[in-house]
Amino acid sequence: MGSPRSKVEVKGFEARYYDLLMGILTLGQYNRWIRKAVRDSGAAPGWRVAELGSGTGVAACEFSRIIGEGGKYMGLDIGKEMMEKARKRCSSRKNVDFLFQRIEEPFTLPFQADLFFVSFVMHGLEDYDKEKVLANVRENLRPGGYFAVLDYSQMKVESSWFLPKLIIGKLECPLAREFAEMDFPSFVERRGFRFSNLKKYFLSMFSLYLFIRK
Ligand SMILES: C[S@@+](CC[C@H](N)C(=O)[O-])C[C@H]1O[C@@H](n2cnc3c(N)ncnc32)[C@H](O)[C@@H]1O
Repeated sequence: MGSPRSKVEVKGFEARYYDLLMGILTLGQYNRWIRKAVRDSGAAPGWRVAELGSGTGVAACEFSRIIGEGGKYMGLDIGKEMMEKARKRCSSRKNVDFLFQRIEEPFTLPFQADLFFVSFVMHGLEDYDKEKVLANVRENLRPGGYFAVLDYSQMKVESSWFLPKLIIGKLECPLAREFAEMDFPSFVERRGFRFSNLKKYFLSMFSLYLFIRK
């Protein structure tokens, strides 16, 4: 069971209309940001990629195109409706697969990944679940492999501009504010990764945090 303080498990109405809702909230930009972050994650032809909380499969299709026939992508999620949409979106992609799996519970992938990607999931996890997720990533990622996290940027929410204040401060779960205000890169570094790079999007509201497994 996820934490009662989290809103990151997407079900029912929100899951059925997820793409539409995110499109409206971001003036049609959401999927474009995800695809851009996928391209910026450094994935290359032939890579084995795993995604945590793969949602409706937007990143999956972009990874599929980049890694090509020689690569393999596996998306992990627990949302039934979200996964149905992802499977439909990627139905013609032979290098894509999905697995019903809680990302904080131990799992073993059929491959050692070159890259793990996660977008807009980490901010909704309690610290003890973030730790479990990081242990799972370490277990299934080759040494030297990449861990790419697209999520809210580090900021003091109250003194930020109006949109982060509204979205993170008022609409999101309390965990999202804690995420934005913690030192996320150091939290990950203390658990067996080296912080490698940071890319910011949309007036610095979102960041792609890139780590390398030690
Ligand atoms: C906010 S959505 C983000 C979806 C997608 N990554 C994106 O950026 O559009 C969170 C996704 O993570 C999934 N999720 C949440 N908690 C999870 C958990 N503990 N294990 C696996 N999937 C989880 C949800 O079902 C949902 O698809």
